[in-house]
Amino acid sequence: MKLLIINGPNLNLIGRREVDVYGKENLDQIIHWVSENIESSKVDLIWYQSNSEGDIIDKLHWAIDNQIGGVVINPGAYTHYSYAIRDAISSINIPTVEVHLSNINQRENFRKVSVIKDVCKKQIKGKGKEGYLEAINLFTKS
Ligand code: DQA
Repeated sequence: MKLLIINGPNLNLIGRREVDVYGKENLDQIIHWVSENIESSKVDLIWYQSNSEGDIIDKLHWAIDNQIGGVVINPGAYTHYSYAIRDAISSINIPTVEVHLSNINQRENFRKVSVIKDVCKKQIKGKGKEGYLEAINLFTKS
């Protein structure tokens, strides 16, 4: 099974950005850790990061014709206001899991709202890099 894992704006800076919130590991280290710890050998992970809303939407559309069985997405701050990303997720009709490194419910009020939550099969938050692994396992174990 092919899974598309999308990271949105500013997630290219984790490891250097607000380390008290997001930790000291950078995205490449997290990708490596996830690949090492994945339980199924039958899954093919396609990692994608962009700081641009349109590019994220284009990548979601790309998934339709590229045999993607599931999407894991951390849309960064777009989580809280991008109806366009929400519409893209519901348009492609591919099961999607929302992941956040931090616990968005325990931070500023604006982060408590996720406009994509209702179009995702699950929201995983506050588990750091393990959240990505948990999301991937939801697809490989079901
Ligand atoms: C985040 C939480 C968002 O509120 C924030 O804008 C991010 C990262 C997380 O992974 O905890 O960029 O999605």
